[in-house]
Amino acid sequence: NMNVDVSAKQASPTGPTLETVLSVEHWTDRLFSFRITRPSGFRFRSGEFVMIGLEADSGKPLMRAYSIASPNWDEELEFFSIKVPDGPLTSRLQKIQPGDKILLNRKSVGTLVHDALTPGKSLFLFSTGTGFAPFASVIRDPETYDKFERIIVTHTCRDTAELDYSRKIVNEVLEHEFLGEIAKNRLSYYESTTREDYYRQGRITTLIENGDFAKTIGLDVFNPETDRGMICGSNQMISDVRDILLQNGLTEGSNARPAEFVVEKAFVG
Ligand code: A2P
Repeated sequence: NMNVDVSAKQASPTGPTLETVLSVEHWTDRLFSFRITRPSGFRFRSGEFVMIGLEADSGKPLMRAYSIASPNWDEELEFFSIKVPDGPLTSRLQKIQPGDKILLNRKSVGTLVHDALTPGKSLFLFSTGTGFAPFASVIRDPETYDKFERIIVTHTCRDTAELDYSRKIVNEVLEHEFLGEIAKNRLSYYESTTREDYYRQGRITTLIENGDFAKTIGLDVFNPETDRGMICGSNQMISDVRDILLQNGLTEGSNARPAEFVVEKAFVG
């Protein structure tokens, strides 16, 4: 047989698979989201991340870790990304169009998963910027509502336009035929800006410390008996929110040792 099967080269049993871009949405000049095909064998836990990338000019694939923003029941995979003008991957990734091909690793991992938390009553999801991505997955997973009575997701960005993606996801959950029923009166969205006028302004750390957060959501925060947390943002944001949870007696967990909260760095460039 003289026909050379080019796809055979891609389809190594351990290497990335080649997926198709289905849709792309640009939220601001810094943020965009996109959906790709999900191979039938690809399993993941809501909140995990996976390496995705593009074939580079050198021929060597250019791969970066991305949180999966879609829940594990979704037939497609969704990602929420920053655009870095000179970023090796995102400078090219931001130009993708439906029909383009993306490399997807076969295995996902991560700590922002139910398995890494001990049982509790309220689940607090703290995010800044693209750190909202894993929580877009977690709040769309029915298991989250089986495990917790209240789910509070926070998202802080520089300006209001950067909140459009998270607002849309939360509204979709509340209006969803099945999820809407179970999330009603139990899922709270607490969003703020830091560099543009908005009805709620300030870093999440400031809003927790000045009492606005507790007052708005109507809960006494934080209690290690009942409260569980996940944090995703920049290194400094993670470290500052972690300190608040530690001061309140919560301990940090992992897949190997579940505890009261878990952290993961958001994709930055
Ligand atoms: P700020 O504007 O005060 O820096 P970025 O877009 O740079 O990733 O930041 C996303 C959001 O995270 C911004 O609103 C930023 O606020 C906020 N932020 C940055 N550092 C921290 C921190 N240490 N604790 C809490 N929020 C932070």
